[in-house]
Amino acid sequence: MTIQIAPSILAADFARLADEAAAVASVADWLHVDVMDGHFVPNLTIGLPVVEALSKHASLPLDCHLMIEDPDRWATGYAEAGARSVTIHAEAVQSPVRTLRMIRAAGSRAGLAVNPGTAVEPYADLLGEVDMLLLMTVEPGFGGQPFLDLVLPKIRRAADLITRRGGSIWLQVDGGVSAETIGRCAEAGADVFVAGSAVFGADDPAEAVNGLRSLAVSSNPGLSRH
Ligand code: DX5
Ligand code: ZN
Repeated sequence: MTIQIAPSILAADFARLADEAAAVASVADWLHVDVMDGHFVPNLTIGLPVVEALSKHASLPLDCHLMIEDPDRWATGYAEAGARSVTIHAEAVQSPVRTLRMIRAAGSRAGLAVNPGTAVEPYADLLGEVDMLLLMTVEPGFGGQPFLDLVLPKIRRAADLITRRGGSIWLQVDGGVSAETIGRCAEAGADVFVAGSAVFGADDPAEAVNGLRSLAVSSNPGLSRH
């Protein structure tokens, strides 16, 4: 497994998005884009026009995390707007198989996210339809929240499910991931790490990405550097 770091632009300066993206372009693997609609979560962020603009100006591939109602209707649009990966929430989607297949058909990787209180086992049969499973390690909606250790056993169970299936599904964690917590996530089996405040809240975002990557690698000898 290769570890990947996805800085979340939610913690970046929205008035200088292209510059903020450029600051991590040579060291990160993805740019994580949090799309919130003020309904599925109580916060409102950005939508398709910003993703379209970013996909033209950012060199990193975009990892769009849709925290919106009715992802069945909107997910394909994000894939067509240039997102290399589109993740929908299990709690919001009505027709997961159809929507995940539509994301893949539009040329993107398909992700399925679950909130801290949502079990992963009911989605075991859908693993063939996904390229990435996202386990939220905070309640979605805001950056800068404390990491929820209660999700760690679920990370282990999800990693087991993926290993038993024998596929190459990525296991992403998002929320409160920092120098203090990334080791626990890596040790439990996560391999894609979203970090907002820990990267864009740092004096040197690129150095923060490198530091997080080193900590993840040293916490799980089975993970390698990109
Ligand atoms: C929260 C978002 C996260 C957020 C993480 O709902 O999905 O991607 O940006 O921010 P930090 O790393 O600050 O917890
Ligand atoms: Zn996110």
